[in-house]
Amino acid sequence: MILITDRSDGSPDLTRRLGLAGPCRVVDLAQVATDRQAPPSLIVSDVDLANRQTVEAMRAALARHRQKGVPYLCLLRDMTARSTIQARAIGATEVLPADTSAAALVVTIEQLLQERDGADLERGASAFTRAHLATAAASLADMLGSAAAGRPIAMRAVEASVEAIGQAAAASDIGDWLQVVWSYDDLTYQHCMLVAGLAASFAHQLGFSDGDRRLVTRAAVLHDIGKARISLDILHKPGALDADEQAVMRTHPAIGHAMLLAQGGFCPEVLAAVRSHHEYIDGSGYPDRLQDGQISDIVRMITICDIYAALIERRSYKPPLAPDQAYDMLVLMGTKLDAALVRAFHTVIVKTAQAA
Ligand SMILES: [Fe+2]
Ligand SMILES: [Fe+2]
Repeated sequence: MILITDRSDGSPDLTRRLGLAGPCRVVDLAQVATDRQAPPSLIVSDVDLANRQTVEAMRAALARHRQKGVPYLCLLRDMTARSTIQARAIGATEVLPADTSAAALVVTIEQLLQERDGADLERGASAFTRAHLATAAASLADMLGSAAAGRPIAMRAVEASVEAIGQAAAASDIGDWLQVVWSYDDLTYQHCMLVAGLAASFAHQLGFSDGDRRLVTRAAVLHDIGKARISLDILHKPGALDADEQAVMRTHPAIGHAMLLAQGGFCPEVLAAVRSHHEYIDGSGYPDRLQDGQISDIVRMITICDIYAALIERRSYKPPLAPDQAYDMLVLMGTKLDAALVRAFHTVIVKTAQAA
């Protein structure tokens, strides 16, 4: 195995612990690009994924040294949701704290190597989706991070995720997509990826042109961007929100809309989806109480995907609904949603049902 590290002392203690599982070669992250030795059977990293340049260097290192099926164990100094997501986004097979005991490391490494030997067939079907989802997640991390910090959203990141999600949807493996989505712990990521995957699949199902499919996917990827400015206490509250919290939560469409407008360069369809995805056809939605003809088809589609996603999502305080139960809920919403689109959405559900 190789251990890629960015510690100036070369992680001697960790190298000792890893050495119990097998021969371990240490490569400095700064030197990894010029390393010419034989490809490893396992890659381990001990690097600071909170640092953007390190993430990019690690991504490049993996592209260079990781051969097909080779497991990657990512060790983290802080096990925050963000670092864990980042680790998964660059393709980690397993994520553990850097101070994991030697015994636990040995067990994990043995499992990873065993899985690699038996996994090719099992994982083959979704390897394509996994790769695309990892790209989309990394781009989404970029987008949400920028939005939360008040920096402009990189169009490059938006387009990278739209591309990745579109490819997966076009390959009709939305089922695989959903399965992989559940492995991301952060709820906002999970939700955005889920809505985007469903919307891309929905647009595909409706026979949209390439350009329109991308438009719908772009709108879905960005629809909740305003949530990046809502406090995590409210966003991740393990239970129902009280009236005040709900009022704060309900500001996210207008916040997102204002953010994109201030930045400029977003098309009217995307702006409308961000602002109006909680509007209902009967005028009972928010923030503008729009009605029927005031709500575009793309917004209607995103609304359906958004509600459906929320129903099948796993939350600590509510069990997820099965796909057909969630679909029944959409139907029960009656005049709030576009009935023809809800009917058409059923074909997308059939695929999610197969994945459940
Ligand atoms: Fe929303
Ligand atoms: Fe949403």
